[in-house]
Amino acid sequence: MTLLRFALAGLSLGSIAQASFSTNLNYRSPSNNHPDLGIAINKVHKRNVPSSPFKPEDLYFTHGVASGDPYPGSVILWTRVAPSNESSDSTVTVSGTAPLYDHDNEKYVSVSTAPVCVEWKVSPDEKMRRAVSHGTVWTSSDVDYTVKVEATGLKPYTTYYYQFSVCKSKNSSPIGRTKTTPKKNQKLKKEINLAIFSCSNYPQGFFNAYGNAARKDDADYFVHLGDYIYEHKEGGYGWGWEMDRIPQPADHNIKSLLDYRKRYASYRTDVDLLESHQKFPWITVWDDHEVENNIWKAGSSAMNNTEDSFLNAGGLSIDQVKANAVRAHFEWMPIRQVDMDDNLRIWRNFEIGNLFDLIMLDTRVYDRSITDLTANRGYLDSIRDEQSRSLMGPRQETWFYNQLKQSAQRRAKWRIVGQQILISDIDYEYDRPATPYNADAWDGYRANKNRTLETIIDNKIDNTIFLAGDTHAAYVSDLVYFTNTTNYNPLTGSGAIGVEFGGTGVTSPGPVAQNGTLEEGIVRSQIFVDKSKPLQWQDSYYRGYYELKIDYKRVVANFFGIPDIRSRNGKEIKLVTFEVRDGENRLRRNKEGEAIVGKAVGGALKNGEVDLEAAVVVDTMEKKR
Ligand SMILES: *[C@@H]1O[C@H](CO)[C@@H](O)[C@H](O)[C@H]1NC(C)=O
Ligand SMILES: *[C@@H]1O[C@H](CO)[C@@H](O)[C@H](O)[C@H]1NC(C)=O
Ligand SMILES: *[C@@H]1O[C@H](CO)[C@@H](O)[C@H](O)[C@H]1NC(C)=O
Ligand SMILES: *[C@@H]1O[C@H](CO)[C@@H](O)[C@H](O)[C@H]1NC(C)=O
Ligand SMILES: *[C@@H]1O[C@H](CO)[C@@H](O)[C@H](O)[C@H]1NC(C)=O
Ligand SMILES: [Fe+2]
Repeated sequence: MTLLRFALAGLSLGSIAQASFSTNLNYRSPSNNHPDLGIAINKVHKRNVPSSPFKPEDLYFTHGVASGDPYPGSVILWTRVAPSNESSDSTVTVSGTAPLYDHDNEKYVSVSTAPVCVEWKVSPDEKMRRAVSHGTVWTSSDVDYTVKVEATGLKPYTTYYYQFSVCKSKNSSPIGRTKTTPKKNQKLKKEINLAIFSCSNYPQGFFNAYGNAARKDDADYFVHLGDYIYEHKEGGYGWGWEMDRIPQPADHNIKSLLDYRKRYASYRTDVDLLESHQKFPWITVWDDHEVENNIWKAGSSAMNNTEDSFLNAGGLSIDQVKANAVRAHFEWMPIRQVDMDDNLRIWRNFEIGNLFDLIMLDTRVYDRSITDLTANRGYLDSIRDEQSRSLMGPRQETWFYNQLKQSAQRRAKWRIVGQQILISDIDYEYDRPATPYNADAWDGYRANKNRTLETIIDNKIDNTIFLAGDTHAAYVSDLVYFTNTTNYNPLTGSGAIGVEFGGTGVTSPGPVAQNGTLEEGIVRSQIFVDKSKPLQWQDSYYRGYYELKIDYKRVVANFFGIPDIRSRNGKEIKLVTFEVRDGENRLRRNKEGEAIVGKAVGGALKNGEVDLEAAVVVDTMEKKR
């Protein structure tokens, strides 16, 4: 080792000498200011030999490229370039306290003294002729050989192409495509389209939803509302072996940093996921399964801060599991480090011209009060209405209410709230008669729900649209303040203060379970729309996604169902279309008085008929003539 270091010291390294550790944002995961949680860059620097002993031909771009968190002048670019597909088990800078750069532990040193020099560039043309933004960074085993940079100096609302290369070589990544957002307050000539996803469980099916939206190619940005990965071992939540989709590691629920890295790596072998990352900028938040089922600020359904839990988990605290999950998430997802001094913070806002604000919330990991852990449902019922209960914690709540107000003050036309769980009053008596509400959603935190809806009412904020995932089923409602007391008319939508679009999962099984039938789905849907006052349409059967087309006059939502997720295919059914007009704060009714545009061909509709026979299967893989 010493010899090698000595031999390389004399080489002239050209652009390699310019390479930087600190502009690879992943050395700052989850936070630069907390080196004991994240990575001490000075230690990484000292430990790594400042030249790559890997030959460029021994390095591979193993998991494609990705971009995300677009701003008017910049975007995040991501790749992974490594000597192998395998995730790195290098966690030394996280948990170690010894001077790690010069001890003689082969286990660590042999895997991690070789950094990789990576050049990146951004070009307005597909052939990458002219670089308008570029840089050179290091990556290494410390960050699982991931690279995440911010490309700056870009023009607003412009399509760009980008590529990574191993320094001084022709070993290059695939070319990615991305798009910046419009300038704050820019007036737009065209609508903006969002494709919206949640709940993609790898062993339960192919990510056809991502592929369909990518092939149709009419979205500007992909939005993911969480459950991008799940934490279970093979068989813990679906069996992947039948489809050759066994999530790694397969033999235990994930908990360590290496576990979470492997899990992201195995998800990123799905070709449709890879393609959609390569072609579109993503805006994402996590739900609970990016850490563990029903995560809250001091526990999850599997763990908590008791001694019992610590011993059961082999000496691991829930906080350590969270730190591992969060760090791997920041390493693998194309997202910004939002606030360096607030390391679990992912909540943030995107100002899309003067058309809309996309306010992304974390109702799970950051600071939420105790949730439904099944055994404690009775207890939860008794504390449900406590004013101190919060989904977001006081810091995020204050920020959220200010964002809503500021967005209205700057006269952005719409406020789109991207978050995880349903806010509308949904009656769950059919699923669970004893406690007929979802305590793991806004209804378990009614004071927080009231504060949110009161902010909208008290400040006379129009055009608020909540997005939700989490349920693996579709729920579309007028947004109503306290249904039982408000003068709300479900027939016309009068009295509503906005709209909620809850989408189904990409592959995770819905309420009628993995092998549930269309008929079972319809029965449940009908009961739900009958019993839940603001709920206008519900589907319990299909996996899929939805799209929002947003302009100054209206928001149009199209819901797509995927008929078969057990093979890779391009089939989908447009189930239903909704429209929200500027200033109306409710779903627009069609000529028949139903809260849809045209007809619905799946699910169940309040005060209307669904025409199942009219469902048309379109194949997005079929070549257009
Ligand atoms: C990595 O995995 C891909 C398939 O996902 C395979 O084509 C490739 O050869 C593997 N590369 C290495 C270096 O093992
Ligand atoms: C904490 O976790 C243990 C299992 O490790 C469980 O038995 C107990 O009910 C949990 N307590 C709370 C308050 O979640
Ligand atoms: C929420 O607001 C409604 C209507 O004002 C009120 O009846 C209810 O008690 C409030 N709930 C909580 C938990 O504050
Ligand atoms: C609304 O009123 C009904 C009937 O009185 C009651 O069963 C239900 O729990 C109430 N819903 C809410 C959200 O308070
Ligand atoms: C559902 O279908 C899958 C895939 O065919 C199968 O592996 C699984 O055993 C089925 N589950 C049940 C509960 O029947
Ligand atoms: Fe989910």
